[in-house]
Amino acid sequence: MKIDVLLGLQWGDEGKGKVVDVLTPRYDIITRFQGGPNAGHTLEFNNHKHILHNIPSGIFREEKLNMITNGVVLDPMVFKKEIDVLESMGIDLTRNLWISRKAHLIIPTHRILDAASEAAKGKSKIGSTLKGIGPTYMDKTGRNGLRVGDLDLDFREKYEALKKKHMQLLKIYDYEYDLSEEELFFEGIEVIRKFNRVDTEYALNSFLEEGKSILAEGAQGTMLDIDFGSYPFVTSSNTICAGACTGMGVAPHTIGEVIGIFKAYCTRVGGGPFPSELLDDEGNRLREIGKEFGSTTGRPRRCGWLDLVALKYSMMLNGVTQLSMTKTDVLDSFDVIKVATAYSIGGELTDQMPYSLDAGVKPVFTEMPGWKKDLRGIRSKEQFPDELTNYVRFLEKELQVPVKYIGVGPDREQIIEL
Ligand code: GDP
Ligand code: IMO
Ligand code: MG
Repeated sequence: MKIDVLLGLQWGDEGKGKVVDVLTPRYDIITRFQGGPNAGHTLEFNNHKHILHNIPSGIFREEKLNMITNGVVLDPMVFKKEIDVLESMGIDLTRNLWISRKAHLIIPTHRILDAASEAAKGKSKIGSTLKGIGPTYMDKTGRNGLRVGDLDLDFREKYEALKKKHMQLLKIYDYEYDLSEEELFFEGIEVIRKFNRVDTEYALNSFLEEGKSILAEGAQGTMLDIDFGSYPFVTSSNTICAGACTGMGVAPHTIGEVIGIFKAYCTRVGGGPFPSELLDDEGNRLREIGKEFGSTTGRPRRCGWLDLVALKYSMMLNGVTQLSMTKTDVLDSFDVIKVATAYSIGGELTDQMPYSLDAGVKPVFTEMPGWKKDLRGIRSKEQFPDELTNYVRFLEKELQVPVKYIGVGPDREQIIEL
């Protein structure tokens, strides 16, 4: 068996959580392999909305095993809150959620350092979710980090040493802070202790040998990748498919399908360049209709038209084999739908991602007629208006990969498989 990887092709919030939830019945195991509680993955079913931060989106299908693997940075405090909510719904997770001993822990001073660093950046701040992601990955690569496996070793000693180091660092920032969240952190640590803490790389490779099927759920999006995103306005992990191998300890040949998720338009939350951004009424319409407010921070998301230059770049980096277009219904009332097919830089046209996406990069749009029909009740491609069929054909011709799923609403049921 192979591992299928599902990931975001834009700037995050493409609807990954929903699609993972829909695909989960086809797999035995669902993993989260990078990122941390900066992620907010929304699932809707039975008139309920659930937002997951650390926990894989397979968690609502009882018989499935979910794993948080080594590439993730785990916040015990956020984790406890998520567990409390799920337990109140009668879901016992200690059986079907495993955690890698090699996953790094976010401690309260990581979050404080994140906030202090952002405050010091002033106008050029990244717009981080302030969940401590950057400082935790810095400690990981700087070889100072605290890991889940340390819970069984001299945890308190290691924690105090790391905290002390952070407090030294905080002296260089003129930033006021308090450590009141420490108590919640230690409560979260006790919750983690209840879970199966294993070397998930061994577990996953054995499961593969046994013929079990695995779906790996990416967080953030390709344009937020630490190497290939719009640096420095990125997150601190490799969000691309290659990150699934290092984030789980599986060899490249074990990867099967690469399912790329994109919205029928584009959004971005936080700072950084966004060539097809709409700063006008059309942008406001996309935000209102698409309810584009962050799942983790509640911030309004910046909105713009679909950007094929960025999308093609993402597809190249990930080796996408199947596409899933979400939030198609958000475009239902638009007379004209625009798609950026090239960038104009100093009068020259290019379809490649430039080193710097500064204000001199102007999108060149192709216009298509809108379908002007309510798609939310549609459940088969035979019911597609002609304009939507043409839009999908146009995208498939440009992207050279089939669109397999089309989202027509936030609910689990509102998806069409082509
Ligand atoms: P993720 O981070 O990629 O999992 O995406 P988020 O959950 O942060 O944001 C996606 C939002 O769009 C959520 O509120 C979803 O419920 C919603 N959503 C997902 N797919 C669709 C769709 O096809 N149509 C509409 N209208 N909403 C969708
Ligand atoms: P999901 O998994 C959208 C953005 C932040 C900020 C930048 C760095 O829900 O798609 P960080 O907290 O990582 O230091 O923030 O990345 N960002 C996201 N934007 N969706 C996400 O996750 C994001 N995770 C981080 O807004 O611009
Ligand atoms: Mg999200």
